[in-house]
Amino acid sequence: MNLLASIVLLLVTYECVGFWRLPCNSPVIVERTDPIVNPGTFSTHMHTVVGGINYSPNVDYATARKGNCSSCLVKEDMSNYWVPNLYYMASNGTFTPVKQVGGMLVYYLQRGNVKNYAFPEGLRMLAGNPMLRSYNSSAPTNTEESRRQRAISFACIDYSNPNPEVGYIPNKNCPQGLRAQVFFPSCWDGVNLDSPDHRSHMAYPSLIDNGDCPTTHPKRLVSIFYEVMFSVNDFKDMWWNSTKHPFVFSNGDPTGYGYHGDFLNGWDVNVLQKAVDNCNAASGVVEECGEFSFFTNDQTNKCKAKSYFPEKVVKYDDRGYLKSLPGCNPVQYGPQQAVMYDCDAELTRTPSSTSAASSKVIGSQALLLLTILLCTLML
Ligand SMILES: *[C@@H]1O[C@H](CO)[C@@H](O)[C@H](O)[C@H]1NC(C)=O
Ligand SMILES: *[C@@H]1O[C@H](CO)[C@@H](O)[C@H](O)[C@H]1NC(C)=O
Ligand SMILES: *[C@@H]1O[C@H](CO)[C@@H](O)[C@H](O)[C@H]1NC(C)=O
Ligand SMILES: *[C@@H]1O[C@H](CO)[C@@H](O)[C@H](O)[C@H]1NC(C)=O
Repeated sequence: MNLLASIVLLLVTYECVGFWRLPCNSPVIVERTDPIVNPGTFSTHMHTVVGGINYSPNVDYATARKGNCSSCLVKEDMSNYWVPNLYYMASNGTFTPVKQVGGMLVYYLQRGNVKNYAFPEGLRMLAGNPMLRSYNSSAPTNTEESRRQRAISFACIDYSNPNPEVGYIPNKNCPQGLRAQVFFPSCWDGVNLDSPDHRSHMAYPSLIDNGDCPTTHPKRLVSIFYEVMFSVNDFKDMWWNSTKHPFVFSNGDPTGYGYHGDFLNGWDVNVLQKAVDNCNAASGVVEECGEFSFFTNDQTNKCKAKSYFPEKVVKYDDRGYLKSLPGCNPVQYGPQQAVMYDCDAELTRTPSSTSAASSKVIGSQALLLLTILLCTLML
């Protein structure tokens, strides 16, 4: 079956409802915390966080809801959205933060041919695996493990020489930025708001960003997809190895396979449900959704969370450098899964068996994103 036929089939099989883009203008904080994975304490690595002002290592749904501002535009949304941040690693082993362009763009997508539900109060979830350092092609494509890997992608933006999206940080400069992308699972078990691994209460539908939910996770929630842009072009003259890019994520990942995202629901759930039901503008422009009210851009940019673990972090603008990544995150190239160290530098986890690195272009992901685009055009 050729590409066009596949897309037509997808369009016929699955209704394309609509979407909106939620602009989050700036981080609400950049800090080594993660209230989902490490509640009440510091996290193993740095995160760049957008969303509601009440973000903290202890934030829960009720606390998040009490916030009076967000770095994202919609007033009814006090959710937090976070991902690792990116560093430039010099040949002498020091690190300088790579500037993040703005904050984050969060896509809210109504997908599948069934009713989409709002996130329930208190839902939290994680997408991606910080320990991955290669693409494990031995996982069959119809498994959750495979879908979790394919949900991570990178767009190396070069207007004069467009690049395909890939599952890793490519070894080329991206003049208009490196866009890190993570698609979240949208099938819920209908019971648990979280789970010990913060993932297994959720599952991907058959096509990751579309298709059917498994019977174990039958309740279809709205889908979310994060885009974060890093200004890697600022370092274009500082590559010290012509065949290998000099970037590393805060979790010690120089590959991109270990990129991940976290979501903590802070929505007024009734408003979100109305928006999921009614806001189907083909443009994706959030202001066209009549269910929402909005902060001004100035209010979003001024909205900053209180810092809980102030630690000496070099600000991008200082052009200073760190001797190591905050936390205990030695740079680990893989291809085997990374070993996690805690901050007493104790080995807390043994490495799992080595798998061959695969630098394959994720064609299926590209196909799905093309489907999104076509769905959009058809509306
Ligand atoms: C939120 O509350 C703080 C402290 O009371 C106040 O300074 C700030 O202006 C408020 N922000 C908004 C957007 O209302
Ligand atoms: C390491 O290299 C960077 C980039 O060339 C430079 O700015 C920094 O001063 C160096 N640090 C040390 C400790 O030599
Ligand atoms: C790769 O996937 C296979 C099949 O699911 C699994 O048995 C193996 O442990 C995975 N390897 C790594 C390094 O994750
Ligand atoms: C440059 O990177 C390649 C991998 O892409 C590696 O094999 C080589 O050793 C690196 N060279 C230096 C000088 O680090």
